[in-house]
This record gives sequence, structure tokens and C-alpha cells, in this order.
Amino acid sequence: MKNYKRYTVTSALPYANGPIHIGHLAGVYVPADIYCRYLRLRGRDVIFIGGSDEHGVPITIKARTEGVSPQQIVDRYHEMIKKSFENFGISFDIYSRTTHKIHYDTASEFFKKLHDKGDFIEKITEQYYDEEVKQFLADRYITGICPYCGNENAYGDQCEKCGTSLSATDLINPKSTLSGSKPVRKETKHWFLPLDNYEHWLRQWILEEHKEWKTNVYGQCKSWLDQGLQPRAVSRDLDWGVPVPLHDAEGKVLYVWFDAPIGYISATKELFENPKSQIPPCLPAGRNPKSDNWELYWKDKETRLVHFIGKDNIVFHCIIFPTMLKAEGSYILPDNVPANEFLNLEGDKISTSRNWAVWLHEYLAEFPGKQDVLRYALTANAPETKDNDFTWADFQARNNNELVAILGNFVNRAMVLTHKYFNGEVPELREETSYEKLIYEESNKIKKNIEHSLENYRFREALKEAMDLARLGNKYLADTEPWKVFERDPERVKTILNVALQISANLSTLIEPFLPFTAEKLRNILNIDKISWEQAAEVNPLKEGHLLNKPELLFNKIEDEAIKTQIDKLFATKKTNELVGAISNPQKPDVSYEDFSKMDIRVGVILTAEKVAKTKKLLKLTIDTGIDKRTVVSGIAEYYKPEEIIGKRVVILVNLQPREIKGIKSQGMILMAENADGSLCFVSPEKDFRNGSEIK
Ligand code: MF3
Ligand code: ZN
Repeated sequence: MKNYKRYTVTSALPYANGPIHIGHLAGVYVPADIYCRYLRLRGRDVIFIGGSDEHGVPITIKARTEGVSPQQIVDRYHEMIKKSFENFGISFDIYSRTTHKIHYDTASEFFKKLHDKGDFIEKITEQYYDEEVKQFLADRYITGICPYCGNENAYGDQCEKCGTSLSATDLINPKSTLSGSKPVRKETKHWFLPLDNYEHWLRQWILEEHKEWKTNVYGQCKSWLDQGLQPRAVSRDLDWGVPVPLHDAEGKVLYVWFDAPIGYISATKELFENPKSQIPPCLPAGRNPKSDNWELYWKDKETRLVHFIGKDNIVFHCIIFPTMLKAEGSYILPDNVPANEFLNLEGDKISTSRNWAVWLHEYLAEFPGKQDVLRYALTANAPETKDNDFTWADFQARNNNELVAILGNFVNRAMVLTHKYFNGEVPELREETSYEKLIYEESNKIKKNIEHSLENYRFREALKEAMDLARLGNKYLADTEPWKVFERDPERVKTILNVALQISANLSTLIEPFLPFTAEKLRNILNIDKISWEQAAEVNPLKEGHLLNKPELLFNKIEDEAIKTQIDKLFATKKTNELVGAISNPQKPDVSYEDFSKMDIRVGVILTAEKVAKTKKLLKLTIDTGIDKRTVVSGIAEYYKPEEIIGKRVVILVNLQPREIKGIKSQGMILMAENADGSLCFVSPEKDFRNGSEIK
């Protein structure tokens, strides 16, 4: 394997429109962190880059539905995400954001350079436009009828009912979600990156020169390349993003997938602009970029660039971003893109909208101090080669049967026995038998195995190998039985415990990439400083006579009760989802109290009810509103027979503008609750209040 002088490691910039869950952690951030911690332990020159992706249409939609600005949305979630990463020890050298000025400058310059070199194609295309709000519409801002399944609320990019991906022009009866009006087609100019011109080069670079990439990554790239590449628009008509830095580009921004990966570069620049102020609290002391020149990390052939991402990001990191870098000309290309597959939760896809997730901030509140347990469970079960399932039962078993029973138990036995027999001092190493020699050899082999696995991005395997050292230690104690031997041969016990403690000290280094909090705790109870990777398992790090601290358990058993609580909580959300419908409508924008109080809502009673001729859904009702007796037409005939609702107390909006429905003048509207399946029921006052009572 080629030896690199330095490493630039990036992890996908999460969208700042929601908190982080275990899927994110397992797929991207834990493996990236393991890799970087390992490189640092080996004294390599590495920078670990992260940040929030703060542009794109979904953020503007979220802002609109909440009635706040996109900036307010990204401010909120950036802080939350950043905190979660810190809490879980994700050791970024910098966690930046794509709304920083340095990023706007960097992304604009990048675009400008490609533009000036003539690398883009300019094309005029037709796009939907909302004439009422005078705005081009992103696909997500258009709804209509799905041409495949008839779903009336399909989006311009996808029908969520049948899962088909669509383009906005496929929709029947398209409607703008901004104004409700019918959008018109209008010409607009955009800049396209001609990926097709790079196809030949990409085939050579990926399919021939990077056969070592993970099979899931290589396979996806091959299938994209085999289908043939098309020019891709890199600009959008939108008012949130990095403005297209040209004169004739008013109202246009860079496409989010154009600016976001450049965010890795902007963050690197930012890191070196003010390196001291940037050291995040979770970063271990051994932080070690050895140069302060950002360009070395992006432009020097001896730098290894690695992108950690989830599988939905593969095309952007393996095809589009490399093409951008190649077109620009002065940058290095990724050496590897170790993308993971997806993590499911208890057999179901993780979903933010259905709240089917384990959120990091909630986990931490419920399992305080147990970050490493989650890191362990997620790594042991990482979706490295295929989608995988997180279950709470597995989480409990990993903790109780592995962390407690193997790692924790081994260290604790060595510690407790040393305190018992030797007052907590590391005893002398006396005569070594062939068993001790075997232990040294095995420890060494384990270390080499971990290195090999980590250098090849096989993190589950590496973790298992690190645990093998604890397994070896346990076996050694079980075989040599110092607690039985002590009476007869205390000198022999000195050697045994010395060796067991040396293994514990070595473990504190070998587990550090995976379990940084535990490694530190272990160093504390052993009363030692960090041992470098080079030293670990090569020399005996503990001196004879070294005084240990008090034994302390590294892990505690997790009881069934705690697991049951989690499972109940999760399945309770499933029940709620079934009741309210999987896709409940998001909250509407705020209204002022003044607006609300304009509505005159009263208690009324149904006096008469009859079907409206030639309709299926409509009933004609007479309502005593306490003010008058009036006619209201209501679309409830599928749910109520006329005769069964006479005398019913209902709630009616009395000052709704009168409307003519099927030739009948309807004055007001009866309020109904709508269930997930679309069925309706009356909303009634809980006590028999008199007609005309106001609802406020
Ligand atoms: N925000 C994207 C996602 O969550 C990832 C962006 S990665 C970057 O899927 F390279 F564009 F930064
Ligand atoms: Zn459909």
C-alpha cells in the first residue's frame, strides 16, 4: 500500500434540518472517527473535516411550514447536531457550516473558475413558475396527481405513495404549494456540468484504477457509468444558497450538491485560518496536522483524501465531485470512498417523519455516560457490506455479554487481584513460561490484525480483533488461576498479574479508536498516560512498582427493564403513527391571535338533515346556531346517515363567507376531525352547552 504523507478525512455534511440519529452515527461518523483516531494514535498527519450542509430545498420547506427563516432553521439544528457529535466523541478538527462567508467565497470562486474556463454548458430549459408569488418552483414545491398510482398528493420529484421518482412535468393537475395556483412553464437559464465528457476518464479512474473500493461502492459506480452520464444542472432558481457569481444570474443559486462538497475545502481553509480557536472540546490532545497550509491537504499528491459517506451519497462523491475537482485541475482526487449501507431499526427503515429512530440527544438523556456502549453496538453491527438492523436486544447483549463480561471483567479481575495481593502495585515480572511468550506473540498479532483491518476500512472486524485481546486476557487468567496459585506460589502470581496488567495497558491503546471514553477511564484506573500505537503490545508499558488507582468497573450490566422501556417507547410511536397516519401533515405557518379571533365559532344543533340529490358525499343540514336557523351543506354523507344525526350538538364556523354548493346556499361550516384514512367525525362540546356558545 502506498505510503502517504498526510490524510484529509471528510465525513458527509449532514443537512441542518433535523437532529442526528443512530443511522447517521453508524453509517458515517463513528467509522470516520475510528479511522482518524487510529491515524492520530499512529502519529500520522491527519485532518478530520465535518460541518453542516445548510442549503437545499428541504430546508426552505421546513422554514416555510414553521413560518421562520431558513437561517433560523439551520442555526437551530447546526447547534444541536454539533453538540451530539461532541457528546459522542466524534473528534473533528473542525465542524463548520456551509453558511459561513469563507464557504460562499470558496464555492463562488470554484464555480467562477470552471465557468471562465468554459467547462459548463449553458442551457435554457422550461421550468414551472408560480405567477402569483413570482417564483420558479423547485420540484418539491409542486404537488399533483401521480400518473402511476393516482395519489393526489404526489410531489414533483417523487410520489411517496408508490415510491416512483417523478419529474414535475409528469404530474397531472400540478399545483404550486406556495400559492395553490396552477404553475405555468417558463424559460430559465442554467449551467450544466457535462459529465458525459468525463465518462471515459471516470471509467478508467474508477473501474480500472480503483478496483479496491468496497464492492457496494464500486458496483454503484459501475452501474451509473454503464447507464451513460448526462450533463447535470449545477444551478437552481431559488432564494436560499450561494448566489451564482455571474452578472446575468439574478435569483439563481448554486445547486446544493455543487456547493456542499466544496464545504470540505472551505472548512479546511477555515481550520488553518485560526487553528487555535478551532480545537473542539472532544478532540484528543494528540491533534496533529503538521502543516498550516490548507493547500497541502487538498493539492499535494502525497495527501490521501478519504470521504466517509452513506450509500445515498455515492454518486455525488465518486462521480460528480471528482469530476468537479478534475475539471478545476489543481486538486487531488479521493483515494477511497468507504460508503456504508443503511442501518434499520427493529426491522424497519429509520424514518424522521415517522419518528422511527433513536435520536442521539434522547439516548444520552436515557443512558448517561454510555456513549461507548452505543459506539460499540453500532460498530459491531455496522452496515458495512449490506443493510443491517439495530435492535435493543442486540444492544443489551453486546453490553452485557461482551463489554461487561469480556472487557470489563478482565480488567477488573486484574485490578482487584493486584490490590488484594500486592496493595495495588504492579508486581515484578519473574520467570516467564511458554504461556507468557505466547501471550506476547498473540498480542502482537492482534495489533497487526487491527491495523490491517482499519487500513482497509473494515471496522467491525477491527473491533472484534481489539476485543480478542481482552478475550486472550480472560483466557489467560482462567487458565493460570492466580487466585488458586497464590497460596502455593506467590512468585508465579506476580508474573501472571504483571502480564495481565500489561495487557490491560495495551488495551487502553488498542480500544481507543473505538471506545475513547472507556480508554480514558482505563488509563485513569491504571494511572497511566496515553501509550502510542507504536509502543502498544511491543514493550511492557507498566513499570514494576507502579501504583494503580482504585479498581472501578468499566461497564455496568443493562437490565431488561431499561431495554423494555426503550422498546415500548419505540413501538408506542408506531401505534401513534398508525392512528394518525404515517404521513401526517406538517404544522401550518403561525397565525396571529388577531387572525384567529376573526373566526366566529359557535355551538349549534342539527335540526334537519337530508341527502343532496345526485351527490355521494353531501348532506343538506339545518342548524340552530343560537343566532338563527340556517342551511349548511356538509361533505359527510359517507360517514353519517341523515336520520342518525338529527339533534346532534356540533361546532360551526358561522362567519365563513356563504357559498353556493350544488345550487344550495351554504352558510357556515361544520368542524370535523379527519382520520388518517380520510374518514370524518364531528367535534362536539363535552358538556351540553347552549346553542350559540362561542368557541375561543
Ligand atoms: N447533506 C447530504 C446528505 O445528508 C450530504 C452532503 S455531503 C457533501 O445526504 F459532500 F455534500 F457535503
Ligand atoms: Zn404514485
